[in-house]
Amino acid sequence: MIPTIEWKDNRVFMLDQSRLPIDVVYVECRDYLKVAEGIKKLWIRGAPAIGIATAMGIALAAQEISAGDPLKFGQKLEPVFGSFIASRPTAVNIQWAVDRIRGLLRKWKDETVPALKAMLIEEAQKILAEDIEANKAIGRWGAQFIRDGDTILTHCNAGSLATGGYGTATAPMLIAQEEGKKFQVIADETRPVLQGARLTSWELMQAGIPVTLITDNTAGALMKRGEITLAVVGTDRTVMNGDVANKIGTYTVAVLCKEHGIPFYVAAPMSSIDFSIPSGDLIPIEERSAEEVTHIGTCRIAPEGVKVRNLAFDVTPAAYVTAIITEKGAFRPGDLTRLASSDTDLDAIRITAGR
Ligand code: MRU
Repeated sequence: MIPTIEWKDNRVFMLDQSRLPIDVVYVECRDYLKVAEGIKKLWIRGAPAIGIATAMGIALAAQEISAGDPLKFGQKLEPVFGSFIASRPTAVNIQWAVDRIRGLLRKWKDETVPALKAMLIEEAQKILAEDIEANKAIGRWGAQFIRDGDTILTHCNAGSLATGGYGTATAPMLIAQEEGKKFQVIADETRPVLQGARLTSWELMQAGIPVTLITDNTAGALMKRGEITLAVVGTDRTVMNGDVANKIGTYTVAVLCKEHGIPFYVAAPMSSIDFSIPSGDLIPIEERSAEEVTHIGTCRIAPEGVKVRNLAFDVTPAAYVTAIITEKGAFRPGDLTRLASSDTDLDAIRITAGR
């Protein structure tokens, strides 16, 4: 598994995913502005990965701050938090990482500034390690839904590259493969920036999982022919009522799945679940540049000056979601509220392949 992001010698190294699969190149970030630029320009992308990058970027920024006391230190970090939160609005993992760091600063408000600086580096590395463990747990809970002979549709890239490692939607596939199950994957190419074509197919080929690439508009035809048996996708933000924001086109896949009686699963680490928002209608949707639509790479494919809409994400209503697979188990979308409470008996609401 090729690392997505690493903290080394007080620098952040991120794999430049905008150049994959042609070039495998790491960008060295010596300051937080470079990390924020990387998030904005999709050198690093995928909700958990940009959450980790945010924590590492904040740790980098913290090392440069001179402040006499923890309160001033925290105040000087606020604009840094703001620039990460503004960089990509849909993925909740950025806000989640900032909230976690604010909580740490509150908890250790009586520590010295040098101690806090060291803690922020440790915290960023902890977030990375925890993400990989969460993904493996998603894989263990999710593999039960994959049977011999399945053909799994996935959209965008919710693989190792989109996370600290292992992926969310790909984790159940990796565990099912370890269990010796025989299945194949269909990857939507995922216009406009082709995460499925460039990243998911590349990753799955490296993992030795049979993968076939299709254009986004082929999925319905394959479902009608009975050639897809389940769909698994990731999420940028799943909210209290089970509505799921993910890469544009996910909603179309979910509607097609319902029409054809195909189960539609969402792999969601707890860091991507936003318990502060009651419904998907309130999720901010990022709109990106017209060039992503008018060009493929550097090649123009549309007339100059054409009007463009480029929504980066859509929201799939909970009614289309068969189950949400988290590191705590798989749950019906309607049961998410109960996940927020620490006294819920999770065994009572977990769903298994037989239920
Ligand atoms: O614009 P991107 O490439 O950051 O979009 C990524 C997705 O939509 C993923 O499916 C989502 O972030 C989940 S990644 C585990």
